[in-house]
Amino acid sequence: MKKGGIVVINFGSQYVQLIARRVRELNVYSEILPWDTPIEEILKREPKGIIFSGGPASVYAKDAPLPSEEIYKTGLPILGICYGLQVLAHQLGGKVAPADKHEYGRATLKVLKEDKIFKNLPKEFQVWMSHADKVVELPEGFETLAVSDNAPHAAVADLKRNYYGVQFHPEVTHTQYGTDIIVNFVFEVCGAEKNWFMENFVEEEIKKIRETVRNKKVIAALSGGVDSTVAAVLTYKAIGNQLIPIFIDHGLLREGEREEVERALKGLGLPLRVIDASEIFLSRLEGVEDPEEKRKIIGHTFIEVFEKEAKKYPDVEFLLQGTLYPDVIESAGVKGAAKIKSHHNVGGLPERMNLKLLEPLRELFKDEVRQLGKILGIPDEILQRHPFPGPGLAIRILGPVNKEDLNLLRKADKIFIEELKRWGLYNKVWQAFAVLLPVKTVGVMGDVRTYERVVALRAVDSSDGMTADWSRLPYDFLDHVMRRIINEVRGINRVVYDITSKPPGTIEWE
Ligand code: XMP
Repeated sequence: MKKGGIVVINFGSQYVQLIARRVRELNVYSEILPWDTPIEEILKREPKGIIFSGGPASVYAKDAPLPSEEIYKTGLPILGICYGLQVLAHQLGGKVAPADKHEYGRATLKVLKEDKIFKNLPKEFQVWMSHADKVVELPEGFETLAVSDNAPHAAVADLKRNYYGVQFHPEVTHTQYGTDIIVNFVFEVCGAEKNWFMENFVEEEIKKIRETVRNKKVIAALSGGVDSTVAAVLTYKAIGNQLIPIFIDHGLLREGEREEVERALKGLGLPLRVIDASEIFLSRLEGVEDPEEKRKIIGHTFIEVFEKEAKKYPDVEFLLQGTLYPDVIESAGVKGAAKIKSHHNVGGLPERMNLKLLEPLRELFKDEVRQLGKILGIPDEILQRHPFPGPGLAIRILGPVNKEDLNLLRKADKIFIEELKRWGLYNKVWQAFAVLLPVKTVGVMGDVRTYERVVALRAVDSSDGMTADWSRLPYDFLDHVMRRIINEVRGINRVVYDITSKPPGTIEWE
C-alpha cells in the first residue's frame, strides 16, 4: 500500500483497470478498491483524490452499488466517470433518469466553461460515450462545464468542493484529450505528486522481501513466462541463494524454449534447477484424447514432480508466485469473472506443503512487470513473449500426444513465430501459435501424391485473453509461412488459418 495516490472506486466498469493504469502512467500511484470499501480503509491510503469508475448499474435500481456517504465528508476531490458521475448527482441531491436516446460511441463535447479540468484544451472535441441514463438535474453547488448532443450535463463540477463528473470515458483512447483530463484532475485538482517509479519500486520491494523472508528459504516454480521470471529475478536480487528456482521441463515446450530460459536466468546469476520430467509426463499422456483429462494429468503430475523436488529442501518456508494486480482486483472485485489460471500457479501446493505465499508483483499491471523486468536486465525475448498455456503443446496437438507429433508441431510453430518476428508482426499480435490437427489430406508435391497432416495457424488480437479477434495478418505473410512450413516440415502438406473470434471460439483449440 503506497500513500498519497489516487484511489479508484470500482463500480464494475470494464475500464476500471484502464483508469488506474492511466494514473500510474503519470507516475502517480493508483489503487482500485471495491465500491463498498469502508471509509477507514480508503483513508488509510492517505489518497490525494478519488475517482468513481463507471459501471453497468442504474443509480435508482433497488440494489445499485453506492458508496457510503461518509466519502463526501473526507474533503477529498472526486472525479466521477459515467456511472460515477451519476452516483455524485444522485447522492448529492440531483436527479438521474433514463435517457430517451442512448448514447454509445463517439460524441462531440462542447466545453462551456474552461475550468481546471479542461485547462488548455480545445472548445470542442470527440469523446467516447456509453450510457443509458443521464443526469437531468444538478445537485446544489454544481454547474455544467460541457454538453454533448444527448447529454445536457456531459461534464459538471462543484468547484468549491472539487467534485467533477464526466458522462464520457476519459480513460479510453477514443476520447481525444482524455489523458489531459486525467492529468488535470490528478495534478491541477488533487495536487498529487509524482511518487510512482519502477526504479523505486525495485528498491522498496527488495527491502520488503528481505524483511518478510529474513533468513528463510523461498521456492519458485518457473514457467518461462514473464511473470514468474520477473518475480524470481526480483526475489533473487533481494535474497540471493535463499531462493530455489525450479524449472520443470514437461516435454511439452516449444522448440528451444528450455534452453532460452536456462540461458537467460543463469546469465543473471540465478541458481536455476532444471528438471527434465518429460518422460513421466509423456508416458502418462499416452493415448489420452480428452482435453480436460490432459490438463488434469499435466496439472497433477506437475505438482507431484515439484513436490518431490521441493522435499530436497525441507527448510523452505515460502512459495514464490507471480500474481499480478488484475488477479488481485478480480478476486476482490465486484464481479468475479472466472479467469483461466495456469497450473503453474501450483494451486493447492501452499497448503499441502505448508508454505506461505510470497507475491512481490501483486501491485503491478502487466506492462509494469515488463518495465520492471527490463530494469532487472531480463532479455526482451522473455519479456515480450506471448502467453503460453501451462499444459503447453499438449493442448495444441488435437487428440493423443506423442513425440513425433510434438516434433512436427515444434517445427511448424517455430517457422510461424520466426517469420512473425522477421516481418515485425510478433509484437503486434497478442498471441500466435500453430496447432496440429489429427487429419490427413491429399496433396501433390512435385509429381507425387502426398497424404499428410494439416497445421492450423492461429493469431489473435486481445487485451487480456478473455475476448479476442483473429489478427488480420497480411496475405503475403501467410503465403510465405505456408510455403516454408510445407517445404521444410516433412509430414505436413496443408496449412490453414483460423478466423474464429472469441467468443464463440476459444483461443486454444482444446
Ligand atoms: P482460451 O483457449 O480459453 O485461452 O481462449 C485464453 C488464454 O488462456 C490460455 N490458456 C491456458 N493457460 N492453462 C494455462 O495456463 C490452461 O489450461 C490454459 N488454457 C488456455 C491461452 O493460451 C490463452 O492465452
